[in-house]
Amino acid sequence: MHLDIDRVLLSEAEIREGIDRVAAEVTAHFQGREFTVVSVLKGSCIFASDLIRRIPIPLELAFVAASSYRDGTESGELRVDFLPAGNEIEGRNLLLVDDILDTGRTISRLAQEMRSRGAAEVSSCVFLDKPSRRTVDCHANFKAFEVENLFVVGYGLDYAGRYRNLPYVGALKESVYTAASGEPEQTGTV
Ligand code: IMP
Ligand code: MG
Repeated sequence: MHLDIDRVLLSEAEIREGIDRVAAEVTAHFQGREFTVVSVLKGSCIFASDLIRRIPIPLELAFVAASSYRDGTESGELRVDFLPAGNEIEGRNLLLVDDILDTGRTISRLAQEMRSRGAAEVSSCVFLDKPSRRTVDCHANFKAFEVENLFVVGYGLDYAGRYRNLPYVGALKESVYTAASGEPEQTGTV
């Protein structure tokens, strides 16, 4: 285990089981229909790549990037850095895939953006759901795991850009973020 990790919340084996289950749910939902997986960069890249390899029906892949700002600066606004091309959105069934549903701002804003650009259906699939942190009315259609209100890293999730490459999900030692800025709120690319 990495020295900055307090405890492992989801092992590699548990992650595999959760992804198998959610992949089966997504497959059943889109059976017989064309759809595009839209991976929200950077955090969902690992989840999305494992997820799509367990979905045995035709799909396309696209990416979107967003940046969020700490509460208090920029009033917690989310900036969309880039979107798929118009013809990848208009009239398409989209599955937004993100690492974690926390306040809900990222998914709700991106879903709104996709709908306003003419997507036929927008649903969402998240690796982790932290329901206790929600500030906007938003839910994920599919989720692999629910987690308690802890700051977690690994399997794509970062703190200050680091730890995305850990193969498990762990809670970060408090000393890591108190030594830095004090608050593990995310700034920069989600
Ligand atoms: P939102 O608050 O639902 O918009 O989530 C925004 C982003 O915050 C997520 O995509 C993650 O990048 C980041 N985030 C939220 N909670 C955590 C966490 O516990 N660990 C790492 N990143 C997180
Ligand atoms: Mg992040």
